[in-house]
Amino acid sequence: MKPAINELPKLSNSVEDDIHPHHGFITRDKRNTELGHKSGVIWLTGLSGSGKSTIANQVERMLFQQGFTVSILDGDTLRTGLNKDLDFTKEGREENLRRTGEVAALFAKSGHIVLASFISPHHKGRESVKNIIGENFYLAHVDADIDDCISRDPKGLYKKAMFGGIENFTGVGQDYEKPQQADLTINTSGNSIAECTMQLVSFIKSNFTL
Ligand code: ADX
Repeated sequence: MKPAINELPKLSNSVEDDIHPHHGFITRDKRNTELGHKSGVIWLTGLSGSGKSTIANQVERMLFQQGFTVSILDGDTLRTGLNKDLDFTKEGREENLRRTGEVAALFAKSGHIVLASFISPHHKGRESVKNIIGENFYLAHVDADIDDCISRDPKGLYKKAMFGGIENFTGVGQDYEKPQQADLTINTSGNSIAECTMQLVSFIKSNFTL
């Protein structure tokens, strides 16, 4: 016998209506208690060559040695895998950040302190990751004079961009919008790597203690 019309399952309005995320028994709070600290994301934004990855690597090593559960997500690295189909247009960068924001949020739910190191040059993209991550998101501006970045040029990319070899290179062919309200500013033009590392380690310890 055919079901009466009012017994038929309601047709979905969108694919999302048919998706039912799972929530396990191990909550974020339980993980945080077990691991001994809060979890969340420090989003490091700044020009290429400003020192984001250098500082993230030093901080990760120091915190790991002290028993913190800490991980790095880095633009160059993710762009060789998950995000390798994306370019450096505004749209490509937005999608890069959207995907990475989702990954960072999963890491944070799993108890990690995530050091996310991305140029993330536009307010809009940084706002979108902030909204994706929600709880315990901190924006850290790794601030260096553009002239310092150009003279450091660790990957030779400024030189290449200035000779027309890279389209949309941040600081040369495309803007970097400085954050107006960063939670932390790390000035790598006026301070040593060790000083910048300690600044971020102290910030994390004071914000991620249970
Ligand atoms: S973001 O703008 O989308 O956040 P992301 O941090 O992932 O950038 O990648 C930046 C890295 O990609 C740089 O450190 C550099 O090595 C490389 N790169 C290649 N092309 C560009 C470009 N046009 N602008 C900036 N970085 C580039």
